[in-house]
Amino acid sequence: MQKIYQFHFLAEKFFLKAILLLISAKRLVYSGAVEIPRGYKIGHLEQHINFTHNSVLEEICSVLPEDREHESWKGENILYGLGFTEADLQKDPKNFSGGYQVKLNLAKLLLVEPQMLLLDEPTNYLDIHSIRWLKEFLQEWDGELILITHDRDFMDSVITHTLIIHRNTFKKIPGNTKGVREKIAQEEEIYEKTRVNEEKQRQKTQDWIDRFGAKASQASRVQSRVKMLEKIEVKEKLDDIQNLDFVFNHKPFASKENLIEVENLSFGYNPENRLINDLSFKVANGEKICVIGKNGKGKSTLLKLITQDLKPLNGAIKIHNKVEIGFFGQMNIDRLDKNLSVFEELQKVDDRLPQSRIRQVCSNMMFSSDLANKKIAVLSGGEKSRVMLGKILLKGANLLLLDEPTNHLDMESCDSLKEAIKSFEGSIILVSHDEGMLKEISNKLVVFDDNKTFTFEDSYEFFLKRRGWKDS
Ligand SMILES: Nc1ncnc2c1ncn2[C@@H]1O[C@H](COP(=O)(O)OP(=O)(O)OP(=O)(O)O)[C@@H](O)[C@H]1O
Ligand SMILES: [Mg+2]
Repeated sequence: MQKIYQFHFLAEKFFLKAILLLISAKRLVYSGAVEIPRGYKIGHLEQHINFTHNSVLEEICSVLPEDREHESWKGENILYGLGFTEADLQKDPKNFSGGYQVKLNLAKLLLVEPQMLLLDEPTNYLDIHSIRWLKEFLQEWDGELILITHDRDFMDSVITHTLIIHRNTFKKIPGNTKGVREKIAQEEEIYEKTRVNEEKQRQKTQDWIDRFGAKASQASRVQSRVKMLEKIEVKEKLDDIQNLDFVFNHKPFASKENLIEVENLSFGYNPENRLINDLSFKVANGEKICVIGKNGKGKSTLLKLITQDLKPLNGAIKIHNKVEIGFFGQMNIDRLDKNLSVFEELQKVDDRLPQSRIRQVCSNMMFSSDLANKKIAVLSGGEKSRVMLGKILLKGANLLLLDEPTNHLDMESCDSLKEAIKSFEGSIILVSHDEGMLKEISNKLVVFDDNKTFTFEDSYEFFLKRRGWKDS
């Protein structure tokens, strides 16, 4: 059994997706072959969600073949493991929060009982509890597994091998990703030194040939050196690899007051079923607040109340008039205009902005030169996320509202985003299920747990030590 993690660099993510599709036999192979043993079942977790049944139970059972129809209990067990309740089984899958929809997709896949799992970013939108469950599940998984994820801790705790796609070549290395990047950097440093030395040597030989080439007495020596030069393979200089590298544009908050004061806030889409009850907290200048809680508890809803897309049932949210919000909504990547190019979408932020500034942000977000003309319609999830970040960058803000901003980004981009969040001098309200990120960033929490919404005035690590989760 091998558990392989596919480690990749941004520009090459495309290849990785293509390989997953190849292995899952959904695309033709252009050359070469993918050999799959007869009867070997491969389960592919796709990000696209398409439910066609009216209840969760019917949806999951729809994957059972005729000879396994009596095994619906297995499906139920998987669903319970992922946090579904007995009552949930009769509900319409389309009405669940994003995280639960992903879980149902995963449950369908697991019920098929494949020998190999192909998982493309399976932790996206999952809450901490489900990620822990999935981690344990995959650790126990007896079959093969190929996993793409930006969550380094998750990946390193599951895999046995790392497949690196680097500069369009593949390398499979035993062990997890620890030290892999450093090893590649070292190898490339040695390559570069060797290349420079060889180039110097070649130049010296060429100079000698140029000097003595015309002398008849040296003709045979010149000839042999020319031949020698022709034989030596010329090493190409390695291109620089572009990584996401940016800082958020901070507009200073010119006041000593709080940016936001939430007072006795209550909200529910249905007044009888309140998601937020009597929540109070303040956002001071420079504070980094993380919002945590299981899927479907109301975290995105809280951000929508702050952006005034929703109105409180009770209580109030006071927003200082000098607050300038940069909002990264959980589902907003789907709201980008598909017909526009990256450049045009960024230009929409403010059409008075000079073109040079927009080009610069395009380049910050890794859409240099022609890439800025790519249409939104053809962008990957990660590319769309970068467009959204670019829009926030152009606008400038003193309060960032970030709802699961790392979901579609790859590992290098996540690291850059974390750095940008840490170095931002303004205030941040961040929704995240990534425990590594929560530990690094939070100094105050808004917690949705145990049917309550409350604040915890300390780090996530301290929260785990002192209180811990009641929901499981
Ligand atoms: N417009 C709406 N009308 C009715 N119910 C809604 C609406 N939007 C969200 N809900 C429900 O409200 C609950 C909270 O949704 P919300 O999106 O705030 O959850 P969340 O905590 O952000 O979850 P996740 O971690 O999955 O993103 C969910 O049960 C969801 O189905
Ligand atoms: Mg949400």
